Amino acid sequence: MKIISVVSAKGGVGKTTVTATLAHALARQGARVLVLDLDPQNALALHFGIHPNEQRGLSRATLAQQTLRSVVMESASGAFIVPYGIVNEDDRGRFERLVENRTDWLTNHIQSLGLPNDTLVLIDTPPGPSVYMKHALHCANLVVVVTLSDAASYATVPMMQRLVQTYCMNRPDFLDCLYVVNQVDKSLQLSKDVTHLMMETFGDRVIGLVHRDQSVCEALAQDRSVIDYEPGSQASSDLRSAAERINQRLQAQPLVA
Ligand SMILES: Nc1ncnc2c1ncn2[C@@H]1O[C@H](COP(=O)(O)OP(=O)(O)O)[C@@H](O)[C@H]1O
Ligand SMILES: [Mg+2]
Repeated sequence: MKIISVVSAKGGVGKTTVTATLAHALARQGARVLVLDLDPQNALALHFGIHPNEQRGLSRATLAQQTLRSVVMESASGAFIVPYGIVNEDDRGRFERLVENRTDWLTNHIQSLGLPNDTLVLIDTPPGPSVYMKHALHCANLVVVVTLSDAASYATVPMMQRLVQTYCMNRPDFLDCLYVVNQVDKSLQLSKDVTHLMMETFGDRVIGLVHRDQSVCEALAQDRSVIDYEPGSQASSDLRSAAERINQRLQAQPLVA
């Protein structure tokens, strides 16, 4: 099993879209995939055709001392999903306090699922430092940092590097930190400049330049993944190739432990 945590310092950069589409793409490429939503927004479920009123998820399950197995749901692409779930503010606070100091809470929950060895687990997170990002980084074999191709997003990259340094770099099972630049628009000089800077700084670690593409928003409105809704679109092609790069990265260098 490999755990891939998708993170960003800023909100609205496309983390949930990238997590969901990578999961669909990897599942379509034949991988066994489980996606887990660690964001109280509970938005990931919408990308998997889960009904918006569905309350079950990892927050409620943890508070009720149930296993994650009871809240694993299957989606049309074959990927399995564990939503965050719907909780009121009191319960969200209780949940966050409960897991705050349990370093291995997420790792143990994922292990308890007894997933086959070849499973890829993708984790979506809320933006910026939080108890959720801490857990997601603590158990990640691969981290995927999502940024926009703008100056504000680029300025937050060092903060993400520090967090990855703190929670990942000293673990023997940590493989790499990769980057996806989202909403690239080649008609804008700034977008081209920031993309160029990211490529220059991180080289091969930039696994995806995902173009700004209307079909991404349309797909969500149709309750579908963009790779099913508009397979020939630029964003679909960009995200499919990012999924392939993840596969290559996992195969190129087996984990130490
Ligand atoms: N490549 C893209 N092209 C066009 N719109 C996009 C793209 N990626 C994301 N979006 C849109 O940007 C908004 C924020 O995306 P979302 O995945 O919710 O971000 P986050 O999870 O980082 O908050 C959504 O409306 C989504 O449809
Ligand atoms: Mg999100």
